[in-house]
Amino acid sequence: MEICCIPRRFPPMIPRLDRVPAFGSATVRCSALPNSENSGELSMGDRMFVLGTGFVGRFVAAELKTRGWAVSGSCTSAAKKKMLEDLGHHSYLFDANNPEDEILEILKNHTHLIISIPPVVGIGDPMLRHRGLLEGILSSGRIQWLAYLSSTSVYGDYGGSWVDEDYPPKPVSEVARARLAAEEEWLRLGQNLSIAAHVFRLGGIYGPGRSAVDTILKQEHLSDGQKTRLLKSYTSRIHVADIFQALHASILRPSPGKIYNIVDDDPAPRAEVFEYAKKLVKKNLPGHLKINACPEIAEPLPIQKTAMGEKRVSNARMKKELGVNLLHPSYRSGLRSIIEQMNR
Ligand SMILES: NC(=O)c1ccc[n+]([C@@H]2O[C@H](COP(=O)([O-])OP(=O)(O)OC[C@H]3O[C@@H](n4cnc5c(N)ncnc54)[C@H](OP(=O)(O)O)[C@@H]3O)[C@@H](O)[C@H]2O)c1
Repeated sequence: MEICCIPRRFPPMIPRLDRVPAFGSATVRCSALPNSENSGELSMGDRMFVLGTGFVGRFVAAELKTRGWAVSGSCTSAAKKKMLEDLGHHSYLFDANNPEDEILEILKNHTHLIISIPPVVGIGDPMLRHRGLLEGILSSGRIQWLAYLSSTSVYGDYGGSWVDEDYPPKPVSEVARARLAAEEEWLRLGQNLSIAAHVFRLGGIYGPGRSAVDTILKQEHLSDGQKTRLLKSYTSRIHVADIFQALHASILRPSPGKIYNIVDDDPAPRAEVFEYAKKLVKKNLPGHLKINACPEIAEPLPIQKTAMGEKRVSNARMKKELGVNLLHPSYRSGLRSIIEQMNR
């Protein structure tokens, strides 16, 4: 489902207030656009707010700041706030279940918004429960572009066939149903308020600090969800640097109401990825591979295949319309870059 709307006139630009140097980021080569369009950033006064500065939010914030953007974001605990501030990120405490007017008012001064707060089963999208409040803020503020970070889980089961954004979503889990409802509502909100709203359906997210290599090195046990997913024939995934590429390209080329799958070219099974990660660790970080790292890989839980939402998700639209040239088309290059970064 896609909703189109007429882009509204952009509000007058105000001077940037919080230029902060960026920390903790290896700048991503953004290959999404030809040089003439790609070289500069947007006009003065562009300000991003990330609702939910988690793994993706932190990466995006760091990358935008290296490009001269002012970026702020939210988190839910004092410890996270301190961690974000130590990384140089401007951050506010914010609970979407109980949104404070003060923080919502701050949103008004931003031109771009990423919503990275996941939905909750039985509640839905916590932000959208306060729809009236949100509409008031967004309609009187400067937000002109927004991105809702969703998941490829909305497609449900397609028996391993390729699916693109034109395939009707058939979510099988409660959380995927909540995702789909949130997608539709954010797009509708954008349409009603003439804000260029977009949905990004992300595959399994990995990157420095969160990957099969990290799981093996930390000897983490897999969660039940991870164990059951080990049996899947296909798992979409995406390196966080490529998520940034797609978001950045959309900022430069908004397309109101558009939905994009953000996945790599290689929906390989998880067991294969873990095997590759183990080999990489063994070769590059000898002595760090413990015999018992992730024993579950050898013994996944028995589960009926139909419950697992088998499909291969196509990224053709992301490449064609956003011009994204993936930095990591497969988990292989993504994991190698993570190991190389660790070695450095
Ligand atoms: N992980 C995956 O493989 C995957 C795949 C597809 C889609 N997604 C979705 O894509 C988005 C970005 O992923 P991510 O890995 O960057 O997520 P993440 O690291 O879990 O970050 C989620 C953010 O939402 C905040 N948050 C959660 N509940 C909140 C609430 N009630 N009020 C305010 N803030 C709240 C968290 O706050 P704190 O920082 O204080 O915890 C955190 O900053 C998420 O919606 C995620 O569910 C994830």
